[in-house]
Amino acid sequence: MMSSSKVSPFLSARLSALRSYYQKQKNIWDIGCDHGLLGLSFSNEEEVERIHLVDPSAAVIKELQNKLKDSYITKGEILIHHQHGQQLSIETTSNCIFIAGMGGKEIGEIIIHLLPSLDATSSVVISPHRKILELRALLRELPLALVQEELIFEDGQFYQILCLRKGEGPRVHPYGRDIWKKEVGKHYRDHQMKYFGVHEDLASKGYMEYLADPKLLKST
Ligand SMILES: C[S@@+](CC[C@H](N)C(=O)[O-])C[C@H]1O[C@@H](n2cnc3c(N)ncnc32)[C@H](O)[C@@H]1O
Repeated sequence: MMSSSKVSPFLSARLSALRSYYQKQKNIWDIGCDHGLLGLSFSNEEEVERIHLVDPSAAVIKELQNKLKDSYITKGEILIHHQHGQQLSIETTSNCIFIAGMGGKEIGEIIIHLLPSLDATSSVVISPHRKILELRALLRELPLALVQEELIFEDGQFYQILCLRKGEGPRVHPYGRDIWKKEVGKHYRDHQMKYFGVHEDLASKGYMEYLADPKLLKST
């Protein structure tokens, strides 16, 4: 299990799960940070030197600037970037990059943009909200290994979380392997079958066949 021992009591189950993939890197990147809760939850983490909060929305940036103006941070440095993730320059090493709450298309573009700057000390932890099958298909083609994946259910919504590392290792599965485990996985399978069962395209049909495979049920 990749969990760091600390889970913030101020974070939702989804943000706590994302945070648990932190592996003592020096640089935190919260891309599409919005409220900034995930990135800022690292402000007292011993090994963290810089927290980067990234968002293209002027309103979000203003709010973050106001939030940080009167706060005092005990460790490290907090940098706010008014930018799209697709334009970002990152450190050469020791990055923990979170990209959550965006569509699969944007997440894929950001990962492709950052890929040349990544090394094996950096992790990319993602939680796409839309176009997940399309993103999985793209990630399979990139030199990224899947470290771990899980499924979170919160406030009536399912969230896939994938932790990736550049280099050799198991590739991202087109439909996911470990997310179908436990009760939550069974409920997610039912939810996905209901949603994709009405679609007639080949990709949806392939996904439906995978979901209906008895072997998938055995692993839950
Ligand atoms: C739904 S919020 C997610 C906030 C937080 N990451 C979370 O998961 O709770 C999505 C945020 O992504 C930002 N965003 C949209 N497109 C982006 C892009 N291309 N690069 C970086 N951030 C982006 C939006 O401005 C918004 O603040």
